[in-house]
Amino acid sequence: MIGKHISNILLSYNIENLNGYIEPFCGALGVLKHMTQHFKKCYANDKHSDLIELWKQVKNNEFKPPESMSEKKYLEIKNIQSPNALKAFVGFGCSFGGVYFGGYAQKYTGGKNENYLQAATNSMKKLQPLIKNVNFNCISYSKLRPKNKLIYCDPPYQFNNFPVKFRNDTKKYDIFDHDKFWNIMRKWSQNNLVIISEFKAPDDFICIWKKEKYQSASQSKKTRYKSKKSKKFLVEKLFIHKSILDKYKK
Ligand SMILES: C[S@@+](CC[C@H](N)C(=O)[O-])C[C@H]1O[C@@H](n2cnc3c(N)ncnc32)[C@H](O)[C@@H]1O
Repeated sequence: MIGKHISNILLSYNIENLNGYIEPFCGALGVLKHMTQHFKKCYANDKHSDLIELWKQVKNNEFKPPESMSEKKYLEIKNIQSPNALKAFVGFGCSFGGVYFGGYAQKYTGGKNENYLQAATNSMKKLQPLIKNVNFNCISYSKLRPKNKLIYCDPPYQFNNFPVKFRNDTKKYDIFDHDKFWNIMRKWSQNNLVIISEFKAPDDFICIWKKEKYQSASQSKKTRYKSKKSKKFLVEKLFIHKSILDKYKK
C-alpha cells in the first residue's frame, strides 16, 4: 500500500530528462512494481542473493512455486545453498511477518483462515508482467555509479544511534553503515534525482513527505498486536538533498 503512495511522490517530480529508474535496495519490489510502466529502463539491485535470483526467475517465467509447504520442508529449504530462488520465496513468503526465515508462518494464524503459500504464489503471478523491463543484479549499493537517473533508496532503517543489524542470511546478521550511506547519497545527488526513505536524515537532507508506519516488520496488517499499548508508530519520511530540491520541481 505504502509503495503506491511513494511511487506517486517520485512521479510528481520532473523526471522527463532522466534516462532510467534505479532501486539499489529493491527488497520485495513494493515501490518498483508501480514504477516500471513509467521508465523504459529499470534497474533493481539488492545485496540479498536469494531474492535477486527469485526476481530473475519470476521475470523470465521460470519460477514454479511449490504446491505445498510443511514446517519440515520449510526448515529443509532454509539450509539450501544460496543463491536459490525457492529459498527466497519460502524464506519471505512463508515466514511470520515476512521476516526472512523468521518462523513458519502457517503455525501462527491464530485460527484464522490464512494461506501464506497461496498468498505468496498469487503475489508472484501479479508481479511477473510488471517486471519484464527490469534488470536485476545482486550487488551492494556502494558499487553503483549511477548518472542521470531517478534513484529511490529504501535502505535498512536507522532506528537509533547504534549500528543496525539486519538479516540477509539465515545465520548471521549484517551491519549497515549509515554515515557511509548518507555520504554516497550526497555524491549521487550531484548528477541524479535521489529520493530516500528513512525515519531521520542529516540536516542537509530535506523531508518532502511523511506517513505513519507500524514499528516492526512483523507487525503487518494481519499480524500486528491488537492491544493499544503495544501499537507503536514511526513516521516514515522521504528525503531529498537540499542542493537539488528546486532542480527537479515541476
Ligand atoms: C528496507 S528493505 C527494502 C524494502 C523494499 N523497498 C521493499 O519494497 O520491500 C532494505 C533492503 O536493503 C538490502 N540491503 C542491505 N544492505 C545492502 C547493501 N549494502 N546493498 C544493497 N542492498 C542492501 C536488504 O537486503 C533489503 O532487501
